[in-house]
Amino acid sequence: VISGAKNAAVAILPATLLIDGVCTIENVPNISDIKISCEILKKLGAKITWQDEHTITIDTTNITTTKAPLDLTSKFRASYYIIGAMLSRKGEVEVGMPGGCKLGARPIDQHIKGFEALGANVTIEHGAVLVEAESLKAANIFFDVVSVGATINVMIAATMAEGTTVLENVAKEPHVVDVANFLNSMGADIKGAGTDVIRIKGVNELVGCNYSVIPDQIEAGTFMIAAAATKGDVTITNIIPKHLESISAKLIEMGAIVKEGDDSVRVTVDNELRGVNVKTAPYPGFPTDVQQPMSVLLSITKGRSLVTESIWENRHKHTDELKKMGAMIKVEGRTAIIDGVEKLEGAKVIATDLRAGAAMVIAGLIANGETEIVDIEHIDRGYPHIEEKFRSLGADIRRVVR
Ligand code: EPZ
Repeated sequence: VISGAKNAAVAILPATLLIDGVCTIENVPNISDIKISCEILKKLGAKITWQDEHTITIDTTNITTTKAPLDLTSKFRASYYIIGAMLSRKGEVEVGMPGGCKLGARPIDQHIKGFEALGANVTIEHGAVLVEAESLKAANIFFDVVSVGATINVMIAATMAEGTTVLENVAKEPHVVDVANFLNSMGADIKGAGTDVIRIKGVNELVGCNYSVIPDQIEAGTFMIAAAATKGDVTITNIIPKHLESISAKLIEMGAIVKEGDDSVRVTVDNELRGVNVKTAPYPGFPTDVQQPMSVLLSITKGRSLVTESIWENRHKHTDELKKMGAMIKVEGRTAIIDGVEKLEGAKVIATDLRAGAAMVIAGLIANGETEIVDIEHIDRGYPHIEEKFRSLGADIRRVVR
């Protein structure tokens, strides 16, 4: 059963800062990025009540400061959404320079371009980002690169700006649409999310609401790939099959059987899979966040596969770990050239980042013998109860507390 989408939830939680009131968010994934997000909201004065493991009530009536703690905000990437929300609500905000997985340069120039176009002043000094504005005014913004973060952040900031903001060359990921739907549930007037152009008509006020986060496309894709890699028969539920089309299409191209239900997908394998080429791209292309698990599957798939990472400059670090397990991979620039081997061998490997960690779990499941993965705190940032979910499918996996 797939949990709520991390990359939607990490934007929806900070976006509750837009209002002076109460929101209840359901289907929140139980992961460490959400816990940090809640800690930051609390430090700003929000009251957080967990109704159950997946439901949070956030009361943002008494926001007491516009300075988010630098140590917490610089720990993870999505802290940049505090900027859009607090800028709109309070006209000023200070956060630490956003951190996150080390995937190469991760600039925030497109976020800044958007805030400045809405009338804000942005200063970066001593690892902190300071953004302030007397008032925000609508603008036409054409992003230079397709950015999930910048699209969502500027959309959040523009919800109450005077006039109609038009964002062009925007990201179309399911989580962008989900955040727009959440903002509209609070009374925003946003049209076009999911297309290249988003129009945001500024409203005077937003109000609290109840909202349920969409299922996690990336967690679902990871389990689909794990099913194919282990030649299992796995039905993945609580998903939106449309969001998984690029992954389903690639698995079918390899020879796997993918059967879609209304809110589920079943992956089985009844013959030998073929190597394929994969190139990551913004939605609806093949998601970069599933690239690393996919390269594990390709490492044991007959023939040569080329995996080209076009979003991040450094997202092949996991291939060094896979090579420790016997994989034949050569990285040239942004492309990994993978020659499928019969079997991987268990080894001690490192979860170099979040999705690399999930990739190592799949590698461990298909390898001969035992695999030990260290630095698993990366995995806990994005996969709720990963070992329980795999154990329920028959995997021999346990968390070793040291
Ligand atoms: C989001 O990161 C996700 N994180 C990432 O998932 C995901 O890999 C990425 O989108 C792409 O889908 C969150 O949602 C928290 P971008 P984000 O802005 O928003 C360049 C995971 O594993 N760029 O869409 O930071 C950037 O360098 C994480 O869950 C600029 O040049 O990514 C990259 O090449 C890892 N200037 C490209 O755009 C900017 O101002 C896409 O980045 C912003 C981005």
